[in-house]
Amino acid sequence: MPDIKLKIQLNGKSTTLAINPNLTLNQALNENGISSVKQGCETGDCGSCTVIVNGHAVQSCMMLAAQVEGKSVQTFESIEHFLKYQPLHDALLDNTEKDCGFCIPGIMMSLEALLKTNRTPDEAQIKDALNGNLCHCTANATNAKIILTAIKKIKGDF
Ligand code: FES
Repeated sequence: MPDIKLKIQLNGKSTTLAINPNLTLNQALNENGISSVKQGCETGDCGSCTVIVNGHAVQSCMMLAAQVEGKSVQTFESIEHFLKYQPLHDALLDNTEKDCGFCIPGIMMSLEALLKTNRTPDEAQIKDALNGNLCHCTANATNAKIILTAIKKIKGDF
């Protein structure tokens, strides 16, 4: 099948991707150099492929790339060097098994989607935001108390 042109706002930039129309969004992003979006379960269960589409956290393995035509797509690459989020990133890494971190970008995108609309979430809201993200190393990576403590250390505007 010939490639199609997919026009999206990718991490804030107007972008045109040439993609096979059969690709899921996570496959299309990986093929175009976005490596933070993981291919885990591919069945919508683990959340390692989480990205933000038009402000909402979605599991990118569960949608075709063609479905995001004209939409805004945000991946972990947009915030990985965002020092303001360092306390949160550090807390997640400190509470996963050494040398893993596979699920961290997806968790960060779920939290980014939450923090865009709610800068002072409580533990229940954090748990709810992360209910689609699994971490097989340790449950501590998605421990709402640990994450809430880290969010409180983030200074300034999000
Ligand atoms: Fe998409 Fe697991 S790879 S939810």
